[in-house]
Amino acid sequence: IEYALHSHPLKGKRVLISAGPTRESMDPVRFISNHSTGKMGYAIARAAFLLGADVTLAHGPVSLKDIPGVTMKPFISANDLFELMKEESKKADYIIMSAAVGDYRPQDVAKEKIKKNDDCLHVEFIKNPDILSYLCANRTNQQIICGFAMETNDLIAHAKEKLLRKNADMIVANSLRTKGAGFATDTNVATLITKENTEDLPMMSKEDLGLVILDRLMSLKED
Ligand code: CTP
Ligand code: CA
Repeated sequence: IEYALHSHPLKGKRVLISAGPTRESMDPVRFISNHSTGKMGYAIARAAFLLGADVTLAHGPVSLKDIPGVTMKPFISANDLFELMKEESKKADYIIMSAAVGDYRPQDVAKEKIKKNDDCLHVEFIKNPDILSYLCANRTNQQIICGFAMETNDLIAHAKEKLLRKNADMIVANSLRTKGAGFATDTNVATLITKENTEDLPMMSKEDLGLVILDRLMSLKED
């Protein structure tokens, strides 16, 4: 890692990362979201910057500071992120989707505040676009694309299924049930899954994990 930081192996490369949660509006005062804090994606962006890359970080609503030297692009909803990624991915060499993208959004956004009437509120949800699948299906030559999978059960089986279904080059699998991994932690415990290889990593800081992920993605590009 020391060596890598000094030799700037990502110099001249463009790295596009997404981080944090999406928000889907229900009415002018409410939204549906998730527990993502953006820490993992921000850590990858810092690591990519240290390795010399030209870094763009698409980020949802998080309470983290902008990273000096990194181009920051905010998004709110999954559709915002989709538009952003379609545009920014055109010139990216590496794409890492660490954002926690909402799978569904309310079908209709109420124009006025929804009033509390009945005992039950029924909201119809429709599916959001799968951004990672889209990026992989429309990738330019040489692009390396990495996704994440955070699971509560059957981690490796689910992550392998995602690698194939989405046609990604790598999935970073992490379990919500593992100590030292999860949403607001500063550490993570991950398994890196590619078509050829499954690599279990020990618990490490999200920053170090960012460096390891980028190192493994760089070696995928070499062969
Ligand atoms: N992802 C995406 N667009 C979506 C949903 C997910 O790009 N609409 C990306 C995430 O950023 C992540 C990867 O796909 O890199 C896996 O996300 P995950 O939610 O685990 O996968 P899903 O296909 O949504 O499956 P699940 O039913 O487990 O939520
Ligand atoms: Ca999902």
